[in-house]
Amino acid sequence: MNDNLHQLRCCGCGVRIRGDQAGSIFRCKDCGDLFEVEYPGWGLVGGTDRPNAGALKWLWRERRASGELLDRSGVWRFRELLPILDSFGNAVTLQEGNTPLYHLPRAAKALGVDQLFAKHQGMNPTGSFKDTGMTSALSVAKERGFEWVACASTGNTSAAMAAYAARAGLKCLVLIPQGKIAWGKLSQAMDYGAVTCQLKTDFDGCVRVLSTIVQQAPIYLLNSVNPYRLEGQKTPALEIAEYFDWSVPEHILVPGGNLANSSALGKGLREMKALGLISRLPKISVIQAEGANPLVRSFVANDGQKLEPVAANTRATAIRIGNPASWRKAAKVIHETGGWCLDVTEGEIAVAKAELGREGIGSEPASAVTLAGLKKLVADGKVAPSDTVVLLLTGHTLKDADYTIDFHRGTLLKPEEAEPLLPEIAALRRDAVEVEATPDSVLNALKEISGRWV
Ligand code: F0G
Repeated sequence: MNDNLHQLRCCGCGVRIRGDQAGSIFRCKDCGDLFEVEYPGWGLVGGTDRPNAGALKWLWRERRASGELLDRSGVWRFRELLPILDSFGNAVTLQEGNTPLYHLPRAAKALGVDQLFAKHQGMNPTGSFKDTGMTSALSVAKERGFEWVACASTGNTSAAMAAYAARAGLKCLVLIPQGKIAWGKLSQAMDYGAVTCQLKTDFDGCVRVLSTIVQQAPIYLLNSVNPYRLEGQKTPALEIAEYFDWSVPEHILVPGGNLANSSALGKGLREMKALGLISRLPKISVIQAEGANPLVRSFVANDGQKLEPVAANTRATAIRIGNPASWRKAAKVIHETGGWCLDVTEGEIAVAKAELGREGIGSEPASAVTLAGLKKLVADGKVAPSDTVVLLLTGHTLKDADYTIDFHRGTLLKPEEAEPLLPEIAALRRDAVEVEATPDSVLNALKEISGRWV
């Protein structure tokens, strides 16, 4: 099989170009919309390029026992569904993917939805779901001979890009909003050797600056407007389907920032259905933070047909995005699958994150919007007790340890944010206590505290 079977199609006007014609500009010259990767050979039933569903399921399972580097990647294990490289031998991998799917018994009980799971994409090599898209897009950059790659980021994309660039021996430029990204993420970009510029603007401002830079210099853009990112980011949908033996859950809930992840998962599911790997689509719902909710506003105002950018503000800094690039793709996924788009408050995010923590599942705040959103969907009767639900957790808890510590110290939320949730917060908070260095003092503290906490 030829490794490269793709072309790019503009999502707005439908114009098609060869992959290498896009260079580093991923907006259509005619209408300005984004491209998506398309595999024309898949349309021909019985055609030589169309993968066979049964054979693929067998092959992918076999590869789980393989020691080959590409087979050990949870992205490239599914490489027949991302034939974007001239040679798969050019793939740059850190053995991403293959992330755990955890049952959440406590949240399931509290919500009355027994089959509740978390797909933890924070368990990737750099601690976020971005690795799955970076392995695919950065491999394209390397194969096409770029020496420099760049992204604007709220932190996780830059951490992932810097790591994969380091593996590939490419140089990389990171633009981040000054003071608005978590330290864990900034430290990763430095560790992996990126040129990191903190700009006195927000994420949306960083995107604007970078889009001009890549028109003036031979730098490959690795933001999620790059359609090859989405090819890797669709593979968690394959892992989920494989986990449930190709009978997909009723619901998948995804945090919404720049809206590429929801778009990618939707694309993966759409392609699986077209190829006969699954027989129906789960409902994909996108959850945003109340202070960074342009897609929610767009659904309320015009059913997701038009989007007005907002000035974004949330402590879930990963999704502090007011002008999301992939909003049209995400709106299409929500419409096509019958899912919803809703937002949650700062207090609801903090409580949901602490509840996940209590199940032994750490995550960064942006990931916890999914549990907070699920509570609302259950309350509205949109998720039934018999439904199977998967929450997409996108980042590792250690990315933003300050947030967690502030919550437990009681310094995270403003009184008006905490007020509607005081009993929940009181039950979840676990500040560290200072105790004398003697067994008696520790035992006394235990007695006193366990009376309050247990
Ligand atoms: N969760 C985390 C932990 C993220 O880092 C992001 C996005 C999202 C959710 C939202 O995903 O943008 O595809 O809707 N982080 C980007 C970054 C924008 O630069 O790291 P999305």
